Amino acid sequence: MMFTKSKSSTLAAIAACASTLMVNAQEQSATAPEDSLVVKLGTDTFKPFLEENDLFLAEFFAPWCGHCKTLAPHYVEAAKVLQEEYEIPIAQVDCTENQELCMEQGIKGYPTLKVFKKNGDIVSDYQGQRTKDAIIQYMVKQALPAVSEFTESEALNEFLTKQQDNVVIAQYNAAEGALNQTFYNIAESLRDNFVFVNYQDGEASGNVSVIAPKQEPVAFTEDLSSLTNEESLEKLSDFISVESKPYFGEIDGSSYESYMNAEIPLAYFFYNSESERAEYEELFVKLGAEYRGKLNFAGLDASKYGKHAENLNMKEQFPFIAIHETESNFKFGLDQLPESEFVEGETKIVLTAKEIEDFVASYVAGELKPILKSEEVPVVQESNVTKVVGKTHDDIRFDTDKDVLIKYYAPWCGHCKKMAPMFETLADVYAADEDAKSKVVIGKIDGTLNDVFGIEISGYPTLALYPAGDMSKEPIIYQGSRTIESFFEFIKENGAHSIDGAEILEKLAPAEEELEEDEDVIIEDEEEFPSQDEL
Ligand SMILES: *[C@@H]1O[C@H](CO)[C@@H](O)[C@H](O)[C@H]1NC(C)=O
Ligand SMILES: *[C@@H]1O[C@H](CO)[C@@H](O)[C@H](O)[C@H]1NC(C)=O
Ligand SMILES: *[C@@H]1O[C@H](CO)[C@@H](O)[C@H](O)[C@H]1NC(C)=O
Repeated sequence: MMFTKSKSSTLAAIAACASTLMVNAQEQSATAPEDSLVVKLGTDTFKPFLEENDLFLAEFFAPWCGHCKTLAPHYVEAAKVLQEEYEIPIAQVDCTENQELCMEQGIKGYPTLKVFKKNGDIVSDYQGQRTKDAIIQYMVKQALPAVSEFTESEALNEFLTKQQDNVVIAQYNAAEGALNQTFYNIAESLRDNFVFVNYQDGEASGNVSVIAPKQEPVAFTEDLSSLTNEESLEKLSDFISVESKPYFGEIDGSSYESYMNAEIPLAYFFYNSESERAEYEELFVKLGAEYRGKLNFAGLDASKYGKHAENLNMKEQFPFIAIHETESNFKFGLDQLPESEFVEGETKIVLTAKEIEDFVASYVAGELKPILKSEEVPVVQESNVTKVVGKTHDDIRFDTDKDVLIKYYAPWCGHCKKMAPMFETLADVYAADEDAKSKVVIGKIDGTLNDVFGIEISGYPTLALYPAGDMSKEPIIYQGSRTIESFFEFIKENGAHSIDGAEILEKLAPAEEELEEDEDVIIEDEEEFPSQDEL
């Protein structure tokens, strides 16, 4: 995965919004005037235009959209400068009149600004500010070569000394065509994030090196000759992703995504103050170098983002160190104090270098257990629906003797509440029969208070059956209507014991049958998670 592939973060969205010039949007049209230099494109004209132009910017808009109206005067002025002075065309597509084209382009919101390069081979969204100056600057930069080329070491060194704050990706004496091509392609797609340099002095062997500020250059040594273009691109961009990060970085709104997309775990150091960060800096730089490519290390200012502790299943007792394994979503942390022993503003926490080093080493050695978010294990079960918690989830679902049906729910989920009485009845039915009681478990777990692993919960309620016997199998997700009959059928069909709940119910007193009919609710929908807090 390329690490620039990022979901738009809330912070970025807020920033983009705030910086939009607040011109009186009602008074003007979003459609550029006929006498402007903005080229109007439609379904028929788009493709030929793409073929004729190596680089252009296109706005996909709707005439009624407020932000589009605000952008309009900036866009018209940018078009004038870019077309007249730089010969970079600026275009506009009205999506209300060209729906098919906009769908093809994956337009999800208005306005969307897209940069088309190499006749459409490289397409990227413009994410910058929607002002005349920002647009001009950005497009002018896009027109420059993505790679600065040098043949003299003196000129190269002079250029490098000017790039102190930037990560430079340098190619020395491209040895083989494949690497060279990959390098140029990556440069084109990552040019917003890094500075790319190609140095050729005629020597035979070469390398691609990442030169990050205050760090030694690191050369890419993998042989790409037997790989496909795509594999080469991935290898080299993974390498750049790892080596361009500082040994000990910093998490904030702008860096968070790149750490989340890095595909290696992130070790966080939550600190109280800059001076505290400074005290630990040397240690973490050392660890960052030692575990390069295995673990990223970054600090996080707890005075700003302390709440993020919760997402890592840690208490707000700073400083602390925690590791987030982004792929599995496991979280590991160095032990914290019990709530009762921590008084905010009074208790001083000191982490020793040895504690930190041992913690990281144990993690890498696979010796640590993830911190599970879990409710307390219930002492007594109050209903026939077994209350499952994070700590008991695996034991209960992996009971080799029983067919286990678990409902994953959230307290705020209306559909979950509605089906609860029916679910209780379902459990009561199996509990009423001695044989069924020993073979079927009906359980529920509050997914907001408990971490669960081995099942992907994409909405509430999720209902999953773990048949007795082979525990390596995937859970069977219930997709039927939420009636008691349908659940009886599901458990009979899919459970290892083929217990027939409907049969048990028939043998029971008629009173209970009535109860069951009362609660016969059909609910088909799942509720989505409420949107997660983002950094
Ligand atoms: C590398 O690729 C670029 C862009 O395609 C090309 O201009 C350059 O001549 C190539 N250099 C070598 C050494 O192949
Ligand atoms: C990459 O190659 C250049 C030129 O041959 C050399 O100066 C540089 O030290 C090499 N970089 C690394 C990190 O090996
Ligand atoms: C569990 O089910 C049995 C049999 O249906 C019933 O008698 C009992 O009251 C139920 N227990 C609870 C706590 O509801």
